[in-house]
Amino acid sequence: MDLGLSGRVYLVTGASSGVGLATVAALLREGASVAACARDGERLRHALDRLPRAGGAQVHAGTCDVVDGAAVADFTAAAHARFGRLDGVVNNAGRSLMAPVAETTEAQWREEFELKIFSVLNTVRAAAPHLRASDAPAVVNVNAILARQPESRLGATSAARAALLNLTKTLSADLAPIRVNSVALGLIDTGQWRRRYEAAADGRSYAEWSAGIAADRGIALGRFGRAEEVAYPIIALLSPHASYVTGSTLDVGGGVARYV
Ligand SMILES: NC(=O)c1ccc[n+]([C@@H]2O[C@H](COP(=O)([O-])OP(=O)(O)OC[C@H]3O[C@@H](n4cnc5c(N)ncnc54)[C@H](OP(=O)(O)O)[C@@H]3O)[C@@H](O)[C@H]2O)c1
Repeated sequence: MDLGLSGRVYLVTGASSGVGLATVAALLREGASVAACARDGERLRHALDRLPRAGGAQVHAGTCDVVDGAAVADFTAAAHARFGRLDGVVNNAGRSLMAPVAETTEAQWREEFELKIFSVLNTVRAAAPHLRASDAPAVVNVNAILARQPESRLGATSAARAALLNLTKTLSADLAPIRVNSVALGLIDTGQWRRRYEAAADGRSYAEWSAGIAADRGIALGRFGRAEEVAYPIIALLSPHASYVTGSTLDVGGGVARYV
């Protein structure tokens, strides 16, 4: 199916690894151009250089910390100056903070909300004027099942995710006809989990370690997801074919969510 993304332009944050990189790759394969950012510019360019591009798809890579509003504004303006249009934004940059509430400092709480809320406000503020000129404008916020199913070991991250889910609904009303949706991720095999595996160093292989976690968490499909399995739901929500979908949340968790 042609998703109708060819010739369009999307901004993706946190694009050097995991879900962000897979999303850039999927967009380029569809013939869309991408403005891609991360904090480590060298790692970003190295990752992007290897991606195949369909048609005239191009990449604009930029070093940008999404919590820095001025940097986000500059990056967005540079991308728009290069491509002359912007059709969508994928707010993906982030990480989780593995700490129970009692061990989370006030500074860490603030950092979580900076990263999950202010980052999105920053991109939306910078991109909205350009998105309004598109015939199919869309924003996808990469969120977590934690937003609706909090975990004690991830107290601050769960709360910040819930706030982002709530904000996404408000944005879908306030920014209309720009469509604003969420994908809520379960456990996805990316840099985040590789780092946790290395920190655990319990002698098991990564496959054994991750299978154990999948079993403990009761993931219906019995395994972690792959970044590519998130990228396609994201670009489906960006697609003009999803023209009547806004304020929605699509779980991409292999059945880890317990809520109905
Ligand atoms: N993997 C999972 O199981 C899972 C589950 C639920 C939700 N999520 C969410 O999904 C998103 C993608 O995660 P992932 O698993 O793909 O992680 P990842 O492989 O660690 O990639 C994170 C990306 O975000 C960038 N980044 C981090 N902080 C940034 C900042 N302040 N400004 C700009 N870029 C930043 C990183 O590059 P630099 O470090 O160079 O900036 C990297 O490109 C995150 O929001 C994460 O919280 C993931």
